[in-house]
Amino acid sequence: MWSNAIENAVVKVKKNVAKHPGKLPHITEGQRYEWGENDDWIEGFYVGMMWLAYEYSDESFYKEAAESFLANFKDRVDRHVMLDHHDIGFLYSLSAVAQWRVTGSEEARSVALKAAETLFARWRPEAGIIQAWGKEGDPENGGRIIIDCLLNLPLLFWAFEQTGEQKYYDIAYKHALKSQKFLVRGDGSSYHTFYFDSQNGHALRGGTHQGYEDGSTWTRGQAWGIYGFALAYRYTKNESFLQTSKQLAHYFIQRLPEDNVVYWDFDVPLEQNTPRDSSASAITACGLLELLELLDTNDSDRQLFEKVVQDSMKSLADNYATTDLPDAQGLLKHGSYHVRGERAPDDYMIWGDYYYLEALIRMQRGIKGYW
Ligand code: GLY
Repeated sequence: MWSNAIENAVVKVKKNVAKHPGKLPHITEGQRYEWGENDDWIEGFYVGMMWLAYEYSDESFYKEAAESFLANFKDRVDRHVMLDHHDIGFLYSLSAVAQWRVTGSEEARSVALKAAETLFARWRPEAGIIQAWGKEGDPENGGRIIIDCLLNLPLLFWAFEQTGEQKYYDIAYKHALKSQKFLVRGDGSSYHTFYFDSQNGHALRGGTHQGYEDGSTWTRGQAWGIYGFALAYRYTKNESFLQTSKQLAHYFIQRLPEDNVVYWDFDVPLEQNTPRDSSASAITACGLLELLELLDTNDSDRQLFEKVVQDSMKSLADNYATTDLPDAQGLLKHGSYHVRGERAPDDYMIWGDYYYLEALIRMQRGIKGYW
């Protein structure tokens, strides 16, 4: 059922790689990507798409393309280029860990372990958090976490599995617990960010960066939470993470608009041109697919989650995918990066493309992605 959507997507990956050798897509306005260097938080998604395309098609083109970026990712972590943030997990799970998972490459494993160590260095014991942004002691961000970090934790859990070094597991586990306690509100909605006193860990306040307002629920943040807590359960088997993921999923599902693809924030007043965030719906589809694998076969939520995955993926494929635009660089229209900050409010988002492809290939082939 999803073959056409997948075929269309992998052909677009191939065209992008052929047209922009050695370059990586950056967030840009005007429904296009700007092609540049490895210096943001998003470059892993593009390489991850090459691995998905390779696993789906078995075409060596994609494998060779993905492998050709390893030296670039190695150089970035070796020289610590633009890595004063926690998104090291997004970057390296989908590049180096993916390569190791697919090919068993020792070189890729060693790059991924170095990346995990770099992420580990962001642990702040006084506050009991992995610091999201900036250098240690940063006056604004020194004690700040954000919900997106849940997708960075699998790199640490993987490093623990590989090395047996408990420290990776411990900080990932503690950070997930702290995120659960402070980022998730009682009704199943979420804060994007939370501030702690960096000296003693006292909880200060919740807030947002990319959402509509501090107390609102940014839909992509909610999506990171759904998938992230499901993954935290996969690695730790702490049942409460599974329950949190389900709770966040229910909140998301109850607020789906008619076409099953969310607006950028659940609390933004809806007007005629209110932007969507197709990437939030693609991430959530992946989170629900993960939940479906983890839940008991008789769990009462299974049917609902299955239906939502089908409905939202069908809407993405029919109404948001660039199937009718052969020259489009992106796979999904109507993603939003930072609406309130007026950055790319209605454009292609490379992570939306990645999660869309991950969900499609998981549904069609059972290939799970690289978290
Ligand atoms: N992790 C940044 C974002 O979701 O925009």
